[in-house]
Amino acid sequence: MADVDSTGDTGHKEIKVELGERSYAVRIGAGVRHGLAEVIAGLGARRAAVVSARPREWVPETGVPTLHVPARDGERDKTLATVAELCSRFASFGLTRSDVVVSCGGGTTTDSVGLAAALYHRGVSVVHLPTSLLAQVDASVGGKTAVNLPEGKNLVGAYWQPRAVLCDTDYLRTLPRRELVNGLGEIARCHFIGAGDLRGLPLAEQIAANVALKASVVAADERDAGLRHLLNYGHTLGHALERATGYRLRHGECVAVGTVFAGRLAGELGRIPSARVAEHLDVVRHYGLPTALPEGPSVAELISLMRLDKKAVDGLAFVLDGPRGAELVSGVPQDVVARTLAGMPRADH
Ligand code: GLY
Repeated sequence: MADVDSTGDTGHKEIKVELGERSYAVRIGAGVRHGLAEVIAGLGARRAAVVSARPREWVPETGVPTLHVPARDGERDKTLATVAELCSRFASFGLTRSDVVVSCGGGTTTDSVGLAAALYHRGVSVVHLPTSLLAQVDASVGGKTAVNLPEGKNLVGAYWQPRAVLCDTDYLRTLPRRELVNGLGEIARCHFIGAGDLRGLPLAEQIAANVALKASVVAADERDAGLRHLLNYGHTLGHALERATGYRLRHGECVAVGTVFAGRLAGELGRIPSARVAEHLDVVRHYGLPTALPEGPSVAELISLMRLDKKAVDGLAFVLDGPRGAELVSGVPQDVVARTLAGMPRADH
């Protein structure tokens, strides 16, 4: 895992994503957003375009002349039209390649603003101020940016690493419970891919452990050629559930159920003992996350959706725990998947 440095007596944590000359720091803690002006000065930017899905007062001083563009979180606005609109606003403002774009909002905002920054003038610096737990532990770190097409989620995107990420835990104070749960789903799955047992730690430490894990995975496999698949633990069923429920269930809720399923499937395949299967349920339950399949989607429907997964080049593929730790397992027999799904409890959620 990447190192977590504590900075001075502020209690802030700093994690470096090591990508050579594109390396950057992720700062975590209460009030870290106020370091934005210093970050921008360090980049030498003379102007900033701040795209924010949060109230104006949530955005700290930039220290340079700034264009403020309001945005809206949510999959509905994660479109090429939004990216085009943002780029037009940047151009009208006169933003140059040596200036900076700042995103402030949840993962859908950091995704679409990140893509606009990747495309504008063939790439302008971007700094993320993620305001949701999901964006702090996952979406804003690692350089994946994307928007949706009517045909599916995240189908158009680019790898564009930010120059810094400021995960201000003050932003999380007013987060609705369901939004918090969305991020806790990603934290729970980290238990099985190398972060260790984070239960009982303060939230900032859990965020830092997740970011440190992600930083080390991204440093080793920035473009998802292999190791980065690990971050998709619980996501094969998770993505299928999102689609099957028409996105009624949140991403983190679906990943939580997908994590319980991944444990059961690994058990069915004889990869892990029953105690480890039970640990999946315990961890997901600990975070107050759903553990049962929702009423509605049939086993057959979920299997056909899981066949569309990007990792599934050879039949059904899952990231599964095993004697060597978690790894991508391809060609999982359909009858075992069907039996494991059929054995999952169903809930009314
Ligand atoms: N959210 C998975 C990844 O960044 O690869």
